[in-house]
Amino acid sequence: MKRGKGLTFVGDSRILKYDKPKLNRDYSEFPGRTEEFYPDYLLKEWVTGAVFLIGFLCLTVAHPAPLERVADPTDTGYIPLPDWYFLFLYQILKYTYASGPFNVIGAIVIPGIAFTALLLAPWLDNKKDRHWKRRPIASGLMLASVAIIFYTTWESVAYHDWEQQDAQGQIVFSNLDAEDPVFNELIRTNCTSCHGGELAGGSGPGLIEPDYQPETVEAFVRNGVGEMPAFEDTLTDDEIIAISEFVADLEIVSADEAENTPESEE
Ligand code: HEC
Repeated sequence: MKRGKGLTFVGDSRILKYDKPKLNRDYSEFPGRTEEFYPDYLLKEWVTGAVFLIGFLCLTVAHPAPLERVADPTDTGYIPLPDWYFLFLYQILKYTYASGPFNVIGAIVIPGIAFTALLLAPWLDNKKDRHWKRRPIASGLMLASVAIIFYTTWESVAYHDWEQQDAQGQIVFSNLDAEDPVFNELIRTNCTSCHGGELAGGSGPGLIEPDYQPETVEAFVRNGVGEMPAFEDTLTDDEIIAISEFVADLEIVSADEAENTPESEE
C-alpha cells in the first residue's frame, strides 16, 4: 500500500478511519425519526388494514353480489358479464373492427400491444428525469389509457341490458327433472340455447310459467314462430311429441318441492 496519499489516518495512529458512514448505523443516531416495530408500526398497519376491511364490508352490504342460479356450462343462452374491472376489455370486443371477423384484433392484438408496451416501459421510458411533466410521451400514453378505460367502462355499463341480465340468472324453482332423457337428449340440444339452461328464459321466452297444452307446444315446435326455427324436418314425430309433453308438464313449484336445484336432489 502506498504511504500517505489517499489514506486518512485516525489521529496519529496507523489505523484506517472507518469509512462506511451510511452502513450499519444505529437507530439511536436518529432520535424521533424511528419507531419500534412492535407495537407502534404493527398497530399502524393493523389500523390501515381495518379501515380497508370495514370499507369493503360496507360496500358488500350496500351492493351484495346477486345470487343467480347454479352455473351450467351447457347453457349457451346465458351470456356471462365480466366483473366491472374487465368491462373495458369486454366493451372493446363490441366495436365493429374488434369483433366478428376482426375478433383477433379485439381479443389478442389490442390487449397484446397494451401489455407489451407495459412490459417494455422500463426500456422505452428510461430518461433520468422522473418528473411526469418532463416525460410527455409516457405521461400522455398513461393518461390516454386511463381515459380509454374510464370511457369504455362507462359505455359498457350504459349500454348493457341490465333487465335481461337479471332475468337470465334468476332462480326459478320448477319441477324440471334434469335427469330425464328427454331433457338431456332432445331439449338440451335443441331448445336450451334460446330458452335458457333450465327453460326459464333466455333470448326466447321462459317455457315453465305459461300453462301449455302439449298440442300448443307441438304447434310451436313444428312450425316455429318469429326467431324460432321450425323443427318439423329436424326432429321425428316421436321426438316432437316427447318434447311437447315434457314442456307442457313444466310448472313453477315452491323451493322445497323444486327438482331443478342441487339441494333438492338429496
Ligand atoms: C333460435 C332460438 C330458439 C330455439 C332453438 C327454440 N326456440 Fe322456442 N322460441 C324462440 C323465440 C324467440 C320465441 C318467441 C317467438 C315470438 O313470440 O315471436 C319462441 C317461442 C316458443 C314457444 C312459445 C312461447 C310463447 O308462449 O309464446 C314455445 C312453446 C317454444 N318456443 C318452444 C321451443 C322448444 C320446445 C324448442 C326446442 C325444440 C325451442 N322452442 C327452440 C326461440 C327459440
